[in-house]
Amino acid sequence: MSLNFHKKDKIFLSGHNGLVGSAIYEILKKNGYHNIITASKKKLDLRNQQKVQKFFLNNKIDAVIIAAAKVGGINDNNLNKIDYLYDNTMIAFNLIHTAFKNNIKRLIFLGSSCIYPRNCKQPIKEEYLLTSSLEPTNDAYAIAKIAAIKLCHYYNQNKKTSYRCLMPTNIYGLNDNFDPNFGHVIPSLITKFKNSKSNNSEVTIWGDGKPKREFLHVNDLAEAVKFTMEISHRQFMSNSYNSYFNVGSNEEISIKSLVNLLEKLFNHDFKIKYDSSMPNGTLRKKLNSNRLNKLGWKSKIKLKKGLSDLIQTLNN
Ligand SMILES: NC(=O)c1ccc[n+]([C@@H]2O[C@H](COP(=O)([O-])OP(=O)(O)OC[C@H]3O[C@@H](n4cnc5c(N)ncnc54)[C@H](OP(=O)(O)O)[C@@H]3O)[C@@H](O)[C@H]2O)c1
Repeated sequence: MSLNFHKKDKIFLSGHNGLVGSAIYEILKKNGYHNIITASKKKLDLRNQQKVQKFFLNNKIDAVIIAAAKVGGINDNNLNKIDYLYDNTMIAFNLIHTAFKNNIKRLIFLGSSCIYPRNCKQPIKEEYLLTSSLEPTNDAYAIAKIAAIKLCHYYNQNKKTSYRCLMPTNIYGLNDNFDPNFGHVIPSLITKFKNSKSNNSEVTIWGDGKPKREFLHVNDLAEAVKFTMEISHRQFMSNSYNSYFNVGSNEEISIKSLVNLLEKLFNHDFKIKYDSSMPNGTLRKKLNSNRLNKLGWKSKIKLKKGLSDLIQTLNN
C-alpha cells in the first residue's frame, strides 16, 4: 500500500457539509479527485465504531480526510465541555483506528490552533505543544485534538502509516455557523452587524476588543489540505513536526480592528459596545507556519478581500 495520495484514491471525506469539508470537497473535485465518498452525520454517526467499521468495509476506502468534528465558538466550547471532549475524541479515534485496521495508510486529520498553551510564546511553533497549561475555555476540545494528533504520530512511528495532521488557525468562509451566540468570531460578528444595520440597534462585542487573532480563508485551508496530500510521505515525515504542520495566514488583527474593518465593509455608522464581562479567550494566538510555507504552501486571500467577498455573497 502506497504512503502517497493518488488522484484515483477512493477518499472518504468526513464532514463534507461543514465549513472546511465543503471547501475541501470543491477544491479536490476541481483538481481531478473524482472518487470522493461522503456521508452526513444523519447517515453515519462517526461516534459509533461499529457503524464506522461497516462503512469502511462496504466502501473499500483507500484514504481518509477527517474534517468532521464538533466545532463551535468560545461560548459553546465553554458551556458544553463533555460533548466537545467526547464527540471529538470518538470521531477522531474511530476514524484513525478503523483506517489502520483496514490497512489504510493515507489520512489527513484536521486539528486546531486551540491545542497550544494559553500563554504560548508567539508566533507559535509546532514545538510549543504541551509546554504549559491550556486555555480553560476550550481545553476539552483541545485535549481531544491533541490525543488524535498523538495517535496519528504513534501510528506513523510504529506502524509505517502516513497520517498527516494540520493545525489551522481561525477559519472563516461561506458555509459557517452564523449564529451570533454560538458561532466563531467572524460569522457571529457578521450576523450581529447585519441585524444591527437592519434594526438600528447597538452591536455588543464580547470581551474588551484587545485580543489579537489570525484568520485564514477556508479556500486557503482547502488548498493547504490538497498541498499536504500532494507532498510525498518522505517530505511529510522529514518536514512536519511529530506528524503535524501549522496552517496560518501570517495576518494578525485585534478584535477591535476587526470590528472597525467590518463597520467599514457594512458601510454604516454603528453604535458599538464592548462587554468586558464576557471572556476574551487567549490574548494572542498567531501561528508560525514556516514549516509548511517553506515547502511551498502560502495563504493567498487577504483578510479585507476575503471578508468583503463573503459579505457581498451573503447579501446576494
Ligand atoms: N472553523 C474553524 O475556525 C476551524 C479552525 C481550525 C480548525 N478547524 C477544524 O476543521 C474541522 C472542520 O471544522 P468546520 O469549521 O468545518 O466545522 P463544521 O462547519 O461544524 O462542520 C463539521 C462537520 O462535522 C460533521 N459532524 C459533526 N459531528 C459528527 C458526527 N458525530 N458524525 C458525523 N459527522 C459529524 C457535521 O456533519 P453534518 O453537517 O452532517 O451534521 C459537519 O459537516 C474540524 O476538525 C475543526 O477542528 C476549524
